Amino acid sequence: MEKGKVFIALDVADRREALAIVAELKGFGAGWKIGKQLFTQEGPALVKEIVAMGEDVFLDLKYHDIPNTVAQAGLAAAKLGVKLFNVHAAGGRAMMAETRKALDTLPDRPLVLAVTVLTSLSAEDLAEVGYHATPAQQVARFAKLAEEAGMDGVVASPLEIEIIRSVTRPSFKILTPGIRPAGGLKDDQKRIATPAAAIAAGADYLVIGRPVTQAPDRKKAFWEILDEIRNG
Ligand code: C5P
Repeated sequence: MEKGKVFIALDVADRREALAIVAELKGFGAGWKIGKQLFTQEGPALVKEIVAMGEDVFLDLKYHDIPNTVAQAGLAAAKLGVKLFNVHAAGGRAMMAETRKALDTLPDRPLVLAVTVLTSLSAEDLAEVGYHATPAQQVARFAKLAEEAGMDGVVASPLEIEIIRSVTRPSFKILTPGIRPAGGLKDDQKRIATPAAAIAAGADYLVIGRPVTQAPDRKKAFWEILDEIRNG
């Protein structure tokens, strides 16, 4: 997948709403992120339906379980034809390594990314669950572990790209949510960057939801973002 690829977060209630967005924005090179809300409502049928349209899908289910369960879930995701899925790095080395080993049996495998520290967690929240590093130290630690365990990259806030790049190889992929066009609303995102700033900082792929899906003119909002990515 090419650097700078944008995944539109389909955080909507059902199939009808999701397909309306896909129909409107199809053809401009975006991929589609299906997360827990839409997947729980519609199941794998909708994933298959969007894949059958020739579209790239990122299945954002953040698997975190014992190694065999996650490896088998990863194979099931691959069978749906998704291009990308993710796991929690906190699931540990064996969970990630077994998942990668299972995927390596496939002729055309999806990329698998690790979620490091959820951006919703503060230093205090981390301490409460027993992580006593700062969020940045913990992100770096998870990124390094994910790389060693065979993950293709990580999901991270745009503000964490620099620290991740300092501990991983240059081809390790970074996908960043928390993207807000210059002058746009922040919604509930706290650690944000503009599309151009995220790419300049070294992001490979971007996830953008509400600034596009809830815009009065979705096409215009998306074109402006693509233009910003291309022209800085
Ligand atoms: O609407 P918005 O652009 O904020 O959507 C961002 C998407 O990325 C949402 O689906 C959200 O769940 C996801 N995400 C995030 N921050 C993370 C991980 C995932 O915003 N750290």
